[in-house]
Amino acid sequence: MSDCKQTYQQKTPESRALYERAEAVMPGGVCHNLRYHPPYPVYISRACGSRFWDVDDNEYLDFWQGHYSHILGHSPPHIVGQIEKLLASGVMHSGVVNPMEVELAELVCELISSAQKVRFCCSGTEAAMYAVRIARAYTNRPKIIKIQGGWHGAGSDLLFGVFKPYDMPDSLGLLEKNAENVITIPFNDPQAASAAIRKHGAELAGVIMEPIAGGGGFIAASIDFLAAIREETQKVGAVLIYDEIISGFRVALGGAQALLGVEPDLTVLGKVLGGGWPIGAVAGQSHIMDICNPLLHSNKWERAMIGGGTFSCLPASMTAGVSMLRYLKQQAARLYPQLAEVGETLRSKIEQTFAQNGVYAKCTGIGSLFMTHFPKDKQVKLDNPYAISYVTDVDKREVKLKTLLLSKGVYVMHGGGALSSRHSHDDIDFFIAKLDEIAKQMID
Ligand SMILES: Cc1ncc(COP(=O)(O)O)c(C=O)c1O
Repeated sequence: MSDCKQTYQQKTPESRALYERAEAVMPGGVCHNLRYHPPYPVYISRACGSRFWDVDDNEYLDFWQGHYSHILGHSPPHIVGQIEKLLASGVMHSGVVNPMEVELAELVCELISSAQKVRFCCSGTEAAMYAVRIARAYTNRPKIIKIQGGWHGAGSDLLFGVFKPYDMPDSLGLLEKNAENVITIPFNDPQAASAAIRKHGAELAGVIMEPIAGGGGFIAASIDFLAAIREETQKVGAVLIYDEIISGFRVALGGAQALLGVEPDLTVLGKVLGGGWPIGAVAGQSHIMDICNPLLHSNKWERAMIGGGTFSCLPASMTAGVSMLRYLKQQAARLYPQLAEVGETLRSKIEQTFAQNGVYAKCTGIGSLFMTHFPKDKQVKLDNPYAISYVTDVDKREVKLKTLLLSKGVYVMHGGGALSSRHSHDDIDFFIAKLDEIAKQMID
């Protein structure tokens, strides 16, 4: 392990110098904690397809792919072409409505079956925050149920029950009243979900959940779990919100709701939707979305304030988003099965490679998404984020595996990441060969 740290440091002097400067002017040297890793992060200088290069010109096979945004890999030529045209038109940002936002809204409502109306914003965090506000405004109730391990961005409403231990706030600076109005429930436990929804029904504005839990290991909710939550929220009149910021347009053209067959009332979207540019969206049935409609509710106390950001509907995000969704729509029949097949092969090859080297590892995920775990107890089922955080060696995955793979030219996040259409069979073979070279070092 110390050898690989040394190799990494020898290969990356420019990154080290940049990080020393960064640390002096940014808390921790970064603006997103996930982007730091010891001893210091690599600084990117260019990217294409499945690869990026750092400022020392080292090449990396990239499975992080812009926080899982780049389903078509870095810089897809057709999106880059559209952005170049946009820049040539002089419309960098205007604050005036643009034609692309209309087409993007139409595409979202066409492809996400539960969506009839949509509002765009600049990030997934913002979209999740708005979805909660819509649920509260629509029901005139305060409480929100969320899942243990569910990350919905860093907004103050939902920063509870995200990380271990799940029974305390995940940040300083949150108010007691935020905590009082959030209830966390275990993932994939239909009985606990039904009981919590019934118990809090009269005060319950909504349930927010990822139908495929990203933080835990891209684990799909069981149909029983989804059906129980759908039925009980309907009974008590609470709004069911799916956070499909990772799964939307990635696991299927219609998102996890199309794949798993249970529809929410509201969906929050981001990542893939922006075609590589900043975006968030709240979409849902008209009668709920219209709680923010200024044409129907002229007095501000009768409507929910959703949107209003200077950069909302940024022309570049709308343009790249349209280009992305048009392409996905056209290629869906070929693209999603292909990504799922490569993903399946990759997950089993990862487990096999570790096993051949005497290391017990499990690789969870669905479709193009994968995450490697080192379980301390072989008996526990890895079907929810709670079990994964308590029975697997998270540090081993986050630090040791990451550093070893970085020294071999592979960039992973949480011991895995996301495939894109630009990851070739050669890329997969390269990754497995590198994994084979380092696997024995994962033995304690
Ligand atoms: C499931 C989920 N929800 C919300 C967010 C927040 O989105 P953003 O980072 O665009 O604010 C993320 C980001 O990783 C996410 O994975």
